[in-house]
Order: sequence, then C-alpha cells, then structure tokens
Amino acid sequence: MVIVTGGTGYIGSHTVVELINAGKSVVILDDLSNSRIEVIDAIEEITGTRPLFHRVDLADAEALKNVFDKIGEKAEAVVHFAAKKAVGESVEKPLLYYRNNLFGLVNLLEEMQRFSIEKLVFSSSCTVYGQPSVIPVTEETPRQKAESPYGNTKSIAEDIISDCCKVSPLKAISLRYFNPIGAHASAKIGELPVGTPTNLVPYVTQTAAGVRQELTVHGDDYPTEDGTCIRDYIHVVDLAKAHLKALERLDKEVSVGGNHEFFNVGTGKGSSVMEVIETFKAATGVNIPYKIGERRPGDVTEIYADTSFAEKELCWKAELNLKDALGSSWNWEKNYRNIKA
Ligand code: WQD
Repeated sequence: MVIVTGGTGYIGSHTVVELINAGKSVVILDDLSNSRIEVIDAIEEITGTRPLFHRVDLADAEALKNVFDKIGEKAEAVVHFAAKKAVGESVEKPLLYYRNNLFGLVNLLEEMQRFSIEKLVFSSSCTVYGQPSVIPVTEETPRQKAESPYGNTKSIAEDIISDCCKVSPLKAISLRYFNPIGAHASAKIGELPVGTPTNLVPYVTQTAAGVRQELTVHGDDYPTEDGTCIRDYIHVVDLAKAHLKALERLDKEVSVGGNHEFFNVGTGKGSSVMEVIETFKAATGVNIPYKIGERRPGDVTEIYADTSFAEKELCWKAELNLKDALGSSWNWEKNYRNIKA
C-alpha cells in the first residue's frame, strides 16, 4: 500500500490515478485546505477503485500519529505532495509556509521511521535552481537561493531528506517539477486554484471561460525572442507517471546517486508566455484577450529542463506536448463549469 499525502490535490490526484491503474492500493492523507473531497469520487469514476482517505494536517504531529497507528503497518512507501505552494502567499506569510511545509515533512519522516517505511518520493520543484546561469538545467546545476519562502522550503526539505537518508535505511527520490499544466483526459480531475489564479495556465482557461476579463502578461521586455518569460510546461499526466517510475526504481533498490536521488521532470522544451497564448488558440480555437503589464517580482527569465537523466535512469520521458496539455486544461475547465462550447 502506498500513502499519498496531498492526494486530493492537482498533481496528487493525477498520481493516485496512475498508481491505482498500475495495481497499487492507495491511502490518501490530505487536510483539504487546497482541494475538494469530491476528487475522491472522481478518482473512483476514472479508475473504478476508491482510494482510502484520512483528513489530516501533517503539521499536527498528534493527529498524524493517530492516522499512522491505523495505516502505518501496511504501508510500503510514501509519495509526499502535501504542501502549500503559492509563491506570492509564501512571501507575505513565511511562517505559515515554514510551519506547514517543513513541520509537516518532519512529522511525516518521524512516522515513516516509527513504522520502518523506507521508500519516499518527494515533490520538489525547479524553483530550487533560481535563475540558472546555464540552460537547460541538469540535476547537477547548482541550487540557488530561492526567490520565495515557498521555494526555500523545497530546498530545505531536500536537505532534510538527504540528512535522514544518510543515517537511516530511508531511500528517497526527489522529483524536481517544472511547470505542471493540463488535466486527465476524462476531464474529471484538473487544476482548481482557490481564488484568483497566480499561475499562467489556469488564468488562461478561466479567461477563456469568461471568469476573468483578460490576461495580464507579466512583462514583455525580457531578453527572450518575444520578450516574455520562458518555462518548461509539462503535462500533469506525464508528471504523474514519473512518480510511478520513481517508486519502481525504489522497489528495485537501484541507484546511481546514493540513497537520495534527484530527477528533473519536464519536457526539455521551453515555451514563452506568448507561445502559450498562441498554442491555446491552436488547440481550442479560443482567443485569449490580454494586455502587457509590469514584470512580476521574483520571475526568472528562462528555465527549462535537461531530462536525459530521468530518461536514462527512470526510463521516463514526457510523451505529451504543450498543445495536448492546453487542450486538456480547456476540456477540464469546460467540464468543471458546464460549458458546452
Ligand atoms: C509562468 C509564466 C509569469 C500568470 C510557479 C512556481 C513553481 C510551480 C509552478 C508549484 C511567468 C507568467 C503568469 C499570469 C503571466 N509552483 N504569467 N500572467 O512562476 O514559473 O512557477 O508555478 O510547484 O514552483 O514558482 O509559474 O504559471 O505562475 O508563471 O504572464 O497571470 O507566466 O510571469 O513568466 P512559475 P506561473
């Protein structure tokens, strides 16, 4: 049985679907602070199997202990997504992020130790690279001081896990996500930001749905071909499949990088904000009204992944492209809002 923390969230729910489809039994731990319990029903509709669920805040050590008393004996591995992830919010509320993301991780690792659960897949982020001097980034690209407390919690979490792997039987794989977008082909699960989206693609789909009036492009005076920032947008289903590959690697006890390995999980291709807008139109026929605004503090100009290590060692490569992902995002938005067009 695999414990998936944050399993009713965007990436977590897509990963639970892939784990169940691969024959794994799954228990979801989630505090529902940034997701809905109805996601469990959607996972059951997609897979035919209803994952077990415990509502729990990982930062509440006593509550987490009580849950592990019920499930810990049967668990073989943990996939850890549960964390707050809004970059801007983390700047305004650093202690909320350090408490939630780091206390939660420490409590989880202590419970894993208590039940001798020795396999962990961790949700890390390309944000640990900051603005890299060399692009595309490899796993050897030096981490840089994160632009936000959110990004800092990812770097610190990687180090906490590494330190535990040095002195215990714990084996871990940290997946450094680039920019997850898209939705499951069923359109039954997808990204559902609380309040006004800060990320590009949900803002695009909400603009297409008429929920937002127009998109503000945060700056077009960057040193890139069209002046807008470049990111590596990866379909969330490809990203979910990378977690299954990571668990399989841990099961085989294969490693070339010690007890804590790191993998970039992206497409290896960079796309600008304008390219996203144009590709969305090509995928959906929907024009996105936009205006050019000021640069957003903390944005890096350009980052995308060198994924050769994951391709070689995880036997994983992204199969879906930007157009596939944007089309699936729009299908999800239409399904969620009962838009027939
Ligand atoms: C992408 C580009 C914006 C919104 C963040 C986190 C990262 C991960 C993904 C959690 C940038 C531009 C955006 C808008 C815009 N989060 N943009 N108008 O900042 O690359 O990554 O989200 O795991 O850790 O750092 O993603 O989608 O916010 O921005 O022009 O309304 O789109 O300036 O260039 P980002 P994003």
